[in-house]
Amino acid sequence: MYVKKLCYENFRNLKDGCFEPDPGINVIFGDNAQGKTNLIEGLWLFSGQKSFRKVKDAQLVKLQEGEIKPARLQMEFFAAGRAQTAELHIQNRRTAQLNQIPLPAPAALGQSFCAVVFSPDDIDLLKDAPIGRRSFLNNAISALRPKYEKMLQLYNRAVQQRNALLRDVQFHSELTALLDIYEDRIAKTGAYLTSRRKEYIAALMRHIPEIFQQLSDGSEQPALTYQCSAGDGSEQALLQALQQSRGEDTKTGFTGVGPHRDDFLFCINGLPVKQYGSQGQLRSAVLSIKLAQAELLKTFSGEQPIAILDDVMSELDAFRRDYILNHINGWQVFITCCDPEPADRLVAGARFQMRAGVLEKTAGAT
Ligand SMILES: Nc1ncnc2c1ncn2[C@@H]1O[C@H](COP(=O)(O)OP(=O)(O)O)[C@@H](O)[C@H]1O
Ligand SMILES: [Mg+2]
Repeated sequence: MYVKKLCYENFRNLKDGCFEPDPGINVIFGDNAQGKTNLIEGLWLFSGQKSFRKVKDAQLVKLQEGEIKPARLQMEFFAAGRAQTAELHIQNRRTAQLNQIPLPAPAALGQSFCAVVFSPDDIDLLKDAPIGRRSFLNNAISALRPKYEKMLQLYNRAVQQRNALLRDVQFHSELTALLDIYEDRIAKTGAYLTSRRKEYIAALMRHIPEIFQQLSDGSEQPALTYQCSAGDGSEQALLQALQQSRGEDTKTGFTGVGPHRDDFLFCINGLPVKQYGSQGQLRSAVLSIKLAQAELLKTFSGEQPIAILDDVMSELDAFRRDYILNHINGWQVFITCCDPEPADRLVAGARFQMRAGVLEKTAGAT
């Protein structure tokens, strides 16, 4: 699949306009804080996922004095053998249209348009707290299965209801019967989330070893495993864990077990990379997860996703950079950089310069 045109209005610092990329490699260069990442963030949002910069939707709307107008993004793209259009409106929340038909949820765009992004923050996925890993899984799976997002909302609501009840039940013991109802809901929806997440981790693991071995010296064995906070994460195990933790949870006012407390672990030769890995191993581990994710998107959609490389050209060593570029050979690629020089070696494609939110096509590559 490839993007033919992206038009934007009231989006971040971009001056209203359109971007017509090349179906091959696109290099967007410019100084810092000019709007390069904003532009490719606009493309990424059509994957139906949240921004890869972990911001609230409201931050995507252009800040300007006086009246706040919603941001509007329109895209023409080619996928599933035909030209298609999609549109996103963003204010406090997002709404989406595909081929002029409103979608029930923006996540459903992921069924038609796929993207994978590489950014310098990626390494945080394995370094930071589990919440980032859970949202990685939630986003990645929602893009493939809209039902997952619905179940996640039901699950989160049931957990909030249980938390609220935990505070009141101390004073009104007659409310205990309601706890049973909420815990039943948490266990049912939670077991669905857990099994989809385990399935996704297993699917990633079908690709990771080969990719990882090529990114590292070849002798290291990677393993990605899902870690449940409640037994095996089945409905029965969840229900049991919830009942057992009632006493503790009543004290904290917070549900301490369930998929919202789960995690995943990346090990190399049996040791968690988070604690024991070198910087290079961490980077290879994250890149292998990302490239495996791209493989799954490709299998799912039957075509190549678009690839976004935000500011990673100067950060990656030549070996890893070439590996990624070879891996995504034939895909439409968007590369942002301050200095266009590393991209000069790329033959086909187009170059654009971003200056204060204004994009201009420049001469350079053919
Ligand atoms: N909602 C917004 N409204 C207006 N300007 C914004 C908004 N969000 C970010 N910006 C501005 O966009 C610029 C950063 O753009 P970015 O795409 O991150 O730059 P870079 O070219 O370095 O990738 C900053 O000047 C920032 O203040
Ligand atoms: Mg940037």
